[in-house]
Amino acid sequence: MNDQPIRIFISGACAGLAEARDALASHRDLELVGTASEPSKAGAKLASTGAQVVLHALQRPDTIPVEEIAKIREHTAAPIILLVTRSSATLLDEAVTLGLNDVMLLPQLTDNLVFTVKKAHSIGSISNSGAGRQRSGDSSKVITLFSPKGGVGKTVLATNMAAMYAKRLKKRTLLIDLDLQFGDAAIMVGADPRATILDLVMSNGDLDADKLSGFVTHHESGMHLLPAPLRPEDADLVTDDRLASVIAAAKQSYDVILLDTAPNFTSIVLTALDRTDELLVVASLEATSLKSVKICLQTLEMLHYPLEKCHIVLNRADTKVGLRRDQVEDALGKAIRFGVPSNKAIPVAINRGVPVIMTDPKADVTRAVRDLCVAFSPEVAADTERSGSVRLGRRERRRVAADAHRAAERDAQVAAPAATAAGELDLDLEFEFDEHAA
Ligand SMILES: Nc1ncnc2c1ncn2[C@@H]1O[C@H](COP(=O)(O)OP(=O)(O)O)[C@@H](O)[C@H]1O
Ligand SMILES: [Mg+2]
Repeated sequence: MNDQPIRIFISGACAGLAEARDALASHRDLELVGTASEPSKAGAKLASTGAQVVLHALQRPDTIPVEEIAKIREHTAAPIILLVTRSSATLLDEAVTLGLNDVMLLPQLTDNLVFTVKKAHSIGSISNSGAGRQRSGDSSKVITLFSPKGGVGKTVLATNMAAMYAKRLKKRTLLIDLDLQFGDAAIMVGADPRATILDLVMSNGDLDADKLSGFVTHHESGMHLLPAPLRPEDADLVTDDRLASVIAAAKQSYDVILLDTAPNFTSIVLTALDRTDELLVVASLEATSLKSVKICLQTLEMLHYPLEKCHIVLNRADTKVGLRRDQVEDALGKAIRFGVPSNKAIPVAINRGVPVIMTDPKADVTRAVRDLCVAFSPEVAADTERSGSVRLGRRERRRVAADAHRAAERDAQVAAPAATAAGELDLDLEFEFDEHAA
């Protein structure tokens, strides 16, 4: 447990609610993160607030409106306390059947209300960290954006996919910036971080789902974000073991966990890859990028990484630079199923600090991001679930990663002539992508 205030959300309406809300909102152990008097609107707001306890007020306490509770449940696994002005045996029975945590009569002393919230929170945390939790972690998906080259669009895609999953596809989504030295995901989405991954891994006590929830930053899209450390020299303090715990904790509370990475096979990246369900290797239409991607695929093969869970995403796929899709596929020995167009709206959105899927919901690039998200949605089984992954020992991984690094350096030296050769092919065919890549 940490000593951060408990985040509460109040929905519904009943007599005396305004007084109770004011009392709770001003209590130092609680933070009122949102309200919705219309229960039908509670869901969308709830998704973005990361509430830890929900207080739902009933106008007519004769019976519990099952649909209202179901709507809330769709968006949160937080404990729910009913607030009523009149109680009955039937109501209490229904509350038990629906798995609600408590029923409180209003008006009520503030201390009693706060005690009930704390009790619900601590019981909720216990059951959430154990087998009784709604999310088992099995149905969540870890999607990693990787590329051995910088500047190809990993962060653009990671941030926009996260915003798309949270805002449009209504998934509980966490974006973790694992470009630990130079991560810029928070800036790209205009987030004002309350903490970074460094604060989380340096905090005392167990690193569980409850702890994690106190450190994530809430973005207006509804996604939660765990930014990179503020100073590059702090990157090493995020160890492989701590990262493994962060990902394990995230799987308890999120449907989708997106990992943005640095362009190297660092041990942090290898730790992330071991826990990845879908690996999106981002490439661009340049000979240098394609050569790095080829080496990346070879390295993954040497690591016995299941290549079925590895997908090439060609960013700025419509740029006419004299390389054809089939040539790229031949060179990589792998089909390209996903393409994201180039769009000026992206740098404009970055400069505004808003994901492009929010500034330009109808843009081609927004559609492409949506297609990607749908293809890798948690409901769609990952290929890996059939194949399983092989984990290498640390020594062997380090050796393979070092080999890859040397190969990449060699690659940099030969890249310039390769680019010229590609240019000389002088082909002007357009790229066409499968509409339904999944
Ligand atoms: N599809 C695209 N269309 C236009 N510009 C893009 C696109 N993808 C990326 N960019 C530009 O490329 C830059 C680098 O992208 P970024 O995601 O930061 O790369 P990486 O994370 O791989 O280093 C961004 O600042 C953005 O302006
Ligand atoms: Mg980046």
